[in-house]
Amino acid sequence: MSVKCFTKLCLAMFVLVSFSSAATAADKAEIEKIKLPEPRADGTMSLEKALWARKSVRSFSTKAAEWEQVGQLLWAAQGINRPGTKFRTAPSAGATYPLEIYAVLPSGIYHYLPMEHAVEQVVAGDTRAALSAAGLRQGSIQQAACVVVICAAFGRTSEKYADQATRYVYLEAGHVAQNILLQAVALGMGGVPIGAVVDEEGQKALGIPPEQKVVYIVATGFPE
Ligand SMILES: Cc1cc2nc3c(=O)[nH]c(=O)nc-3n(C[C@H](O)[C@H](O)[C@H](O)COP(=O)(O)O)c2cc1C
Repeated sequence: MSVKCFTKLCLAMFVLVSFSSAATAADKAEIEKIKLPEPRADGTMSLEKALWARKSVRSFSTKAAEWEQVGQLLWAAQGINRPGTKFRTAPSAGATYPLEIYAVLPSGIYHYLPMEHAVEQVVAGDTRAALSAAGLRQGSIQQAACVVVICAAFGRTSEKYADQATRYVYLEAGHVAQNILLQAVALGMGGVPIGAVVDEEGQKALGIPPEQKVVYIVATGFPE
């Protein structure tokens, strides 16, 4: 390749890289962040009562969830419980934190930011029907006031634990799901864990980055 040709190629690559990084920065600036109400540290139901009451609830009333309830469910899933640290309500193998949590509400899809106890809206509008289609058309997803979707970036854990990573990530998702289910009961809500999801369709419905996979869904709402 001639020097002239090489220079042209470098210039073209520079323009392409500059343009794509500028677009990414602009996209990020547009994402709206919503600070969630402080998670509560006490409630009216004991852990024992919540354990006695937990059962899979698959049909919900049309009552909407308030931000207090959504925030509490997200905090139970992955919130910081030792302020000033990165440590969370659910255990994580080697504190690698491979899980990303999304709340699917009638108003849109919100990505949880544990360190800020905030959410960023990633999709506007009601996508529960599309997510339900990805979950073998389970009506509980479409009716739920707040669908909590547990996604995983497996690479974060496999960097540290090559052979065990997959097992660790699934175990971690189980911890998170049970936290959500018990918190739902304590809030006077109910829920069902949903494992039957077609990966690619779930990913498409949520619009999540390619390195994240949908692992588990918890549909929550107010029992009818
Ligand atoms: C890994 C896993 C996947 C599940 N997937 C679904 C599902 O796709 N749809 C559903 O309605 N329930 C699902 N469930 C809920 C079970 O059907 C339910 O827990 C079981 O019937 C026992 O009832 P209980 O939760 O009321 O105790 C799942 C549970 C687990 C642990």
